[in-house]
Amino acid sequence: MEGSKPVTEQSGSLDVTIVGGGMITNDLLLPSLYHLQRTGVIRKIDICALDSSPLKALAESGELREAFPGQSFTPHPAFAVAPDKKFPELYKEVITGMAAGNMVVVAVPDHLHYETVRYALQHDQNVLCVKPLVLKYDEAVEIEKLAAEKGRLVGIEYHKRFDRRSLVAKRGYERGEFGAFVLGEAKLIEPYYYRFSNFQNWFTCDHTDPFTYIGCHYVDLVYFITGLKPVEVSVYGVKGRFPNGKEAYLWSQGRVIWENGALLSVLNGLGYPDAAAGSNDQGLVVYCEGKGRTGLIFHDDHQRGVAYSYLEGIGPGGSQYNYVSPDFFRLVPWEGPGYKPIGYGYESVAGITQTIHRIGNQTAGLAADAALARRRELVREVDAQGLLATPANSSINELVVEAARMSILQGAAAVRIVYGDHPHIELG
Ligand SMILES: NC(=O)c1ccc[n+]([C@@H]2O[C@H](COP(=O)([O-])OP(=O)(O)OC[C@H]3O[C@@H](n4cnc5c(N)ncnc54)[C@H](O)[C@@H]3O)[C@@H](O)[C@H]2O)c1
Repeated sequence: MEGSKPVTEQSGSLDVTIVGGGMITNDLLLPSLYHLQRTGVIRKIDICALDSSPLKALAESGELREAFPGQSFTPHPAFAVAPDKKFPELYKEVITGMAAGNMVVVAVPDHLHYETVRYALQHDQNVLCVKPLVLKYDEAVEIEKLAAEKGRLVGIEYHKRFDRRSLVAKRGYERGEFGAFVLGEAKLIEPYYYRFSNFQNWFTCDHTDPFTYIGCHYVDLVYFITGLKPVEVSVYGVKGRFPNGKEAYLWSQGRVIWENGALLSVLNGLGYPDAAAGSNDQGLVVYCEGKGRTGLIFHDDHQRGVAYSYLEGIGPGGSQYNYVSPDFFRLVPWEGPGYKPIGYGYESVAGITQTIHRIGNQTAGLAADAALARRRELVREVDAQGLLATPANSSINELVVEAARMSILQGAAAVRIVYGDHPHIELG
């Protein structure tokens, strides 16, 4: 047929460098990107870590091998390099070696996001960054400006946005089906066994707290569903000690006031019983005011209607009886080899990656100036649509986290978020 082209000539595939080879790369990012590789969106995957040990673990993972037979990545440093040799700057060499317009996935600890994202943008790459983008509002603004200058997309991976129930609620809220948000409660309590992990080395009072680490997911979600901005935050933290003796906020309650006067209470902690059906406890309740009646959004994100009792203690925390979420991330049989990832975790990674891929294809073949102008337009459309979190449309999250840290360290002081030309926080 005239005008018809072979599929292979129609669209390029992305080269991807993942910086960071830890838990989130193993559990979510790499399996999602492997699947996008076999569906043609991605061509080649490189992974950089601080040393070779996590890279070996990823390559030797029985689960990943079984799900993605024959697929692999290029490790930096190489597998054979001694694990005690550290390479904190190696990611720069790898990114410098990438052709412009590909994708860097940032999955290093929170405090390294800023410099890694910036380096990737300076080298003309698109970015998928795990939450939080950065720790300071001013850094988010700087990244937003740099991304706009380069016409590259920075997508922040807030996967709860892609949970179908969030998307259904967002559409309903926008259509006025519930009324106006007035009072809400969100809860995310992570398992007790987290206290025995590497958390005990970094989850200390001076660095973070349960609200900052996981409460932000639900604050982002209420912003995503309602479009309302938070204007005041106060967080009370309950201290305790990790097994290694380090002091931390192990429980917290956040109180967030919104621009229309609504109130959201956010309960967080590291303490859902290992013996309980889990792996954690979470959910969202939002009450709304309408004309002559009230509306309600109720999401039980903990018990999603599936419970399994295993023969052995293979559940989280060694439990046998469990609530199983088929909604976040699971590897399941599909029409191809191995298993495919399903769930909102996968859809969130795919949503960002496919948008970067689409923008690349829509501007391929244009002269450099025209391509840059068109990319900037397309990125502005993504910002305005508000589905993918970008620095331009989600930096309320950086303001909330800054306010929360100031508040918790001052015994739940009220901290205001002031918008306008120069958004900032102030002790209330
Ligand atoms: N729900 C979520 O959205 C979610 C869940 C878990 C983690 N995260 C985020 O993901 C990020 C990583 O978390 P994690 O649990 O995978 O951490 P992790 O400690 O398991 O892994 C961190 C990885 O970063 C690598 N690294 C450190 N410094 C590096 C450097 N200079 N160059 C290259 N690699 C370097 C380490 O080698 C390690 O592989 C954090 O920002 C965390 O907040 C998000």
